[in-house]
Amino acid sequence: MGLLGRRRKREDESLPFDMFELTAGHADREARRARRLESIYHHGQAKIWDGRDVLAELVQKHGRPQLPEAQRQALSRIFSIIMWGELAAWKISAQLSDRLVELEPKLAAASQVHDEARHFYVMHDYLDLLGHKPPPMDFWSRRVVEMTLQTDDLTKKLLGMQLTIETIALTLFQHVRELGVEPVLAELLPYYERDEARHVGLGTQLVPALMAKMSIRETVGVALFQLELLAASVFSLKAMEPDLVTIGVDPRDILAIGFRKQMEMQKVMREEFPAWPEDPPVNRLFHGLCELLFPSEGEGVKVPAHVRLAHALAVVRRTREGVLEVADRGRKQPAQAG
Ligand SMILES: [Fe+2]
Ligand SMILES: [Fe+2]
Repeated sequence: MGLLGRRRKREDESLPFDMFELTAGHADREARRARRLESIYHHGQAKIWDGRDVLAELVQKHGRPQLPEAQRQALSRIFSIIMWGELAAWKISAQLSDRLVELEPKLAAASQVHDEARHFYVMHDYLDLLGHKPPPMDFWSRRVVEMTLQTDDLTKKLLGMQLTIETIALTLFQHVRELGVEPVLAELLPYYERDEARHVGLGTQLVPALMAKMSIRETVGVALFQLELLAASVFSLKAMEPDLVTIGVDPRDILAIGFRKQMEMQKVMREEFPAWPEDPPVNRLFHGLCELLFPSEGEGVKVPAHVRLAHALAVVRRTREGVLEVADRGRKQPAQAG
């Protein structure tokens, strides 16, 4: 048996008494990875925060969240999706914590369960302060979390949870915090970001190792899953666009931050696995789709459908910069000027 319990059958209900033998002959690189995974758990414990205290202190400092009605509603709708996303993250990390067999990744997933439970109830309490009853998720956001929740393949699950859902959350949190949309939320989000950044570590440490052992058929299966997941994420961003614009967020900036985070993750994975591809086909297709839905001409500029399609195909062929690169450059320039 490898890193993960491959056959479910009755394994979930029994104990893996050979769990320490799995790591006995580990090479240096794997031992190093195991230590990093273990530290996810211990850092989680060292940096734990009390959600009730933090929220109460922030409300005492800034007062109850106050926003003009349209913004209040838009912010509430966006963060309702986040709240359900936290519940999904709670369930998915619980599945991972059960199904991972080796001690270190199992510890990392267990600490994530505790974090996501806190993220869920604190976001619920925050939305309550905003006077909002969270509606169900929209079709595309639901698709993203349910694909990840329902897959039995642990590589797909890690790719969906650790490397996709966490990145989306981190990206949105960072941008909403930077814009200071609402002061209680702006000071609450760094607590979330610190936790979510740790959770990404479980994916960057495990996914390349798992994929390195896959057959071509399995690799293609994972790539198709990832592409469908990324497409559903961009459609959910599109569905959120009117609310994002209402609170002053350009969805292209979200794509740019997400893109940069994705590059950082790829870099971490390439350090461990130099064979990890620089610009896999899934990336190119995803960038083309982003260009199609969010043309780099910018918000409010009308671009005819056939021009959009031509631009998107040029992005896939890498003969044209995509919306991600353009927005990413736009975000870097003001920082460099300052
Ligand atoms: Fe979370
Ligand atoms: Fe998380």
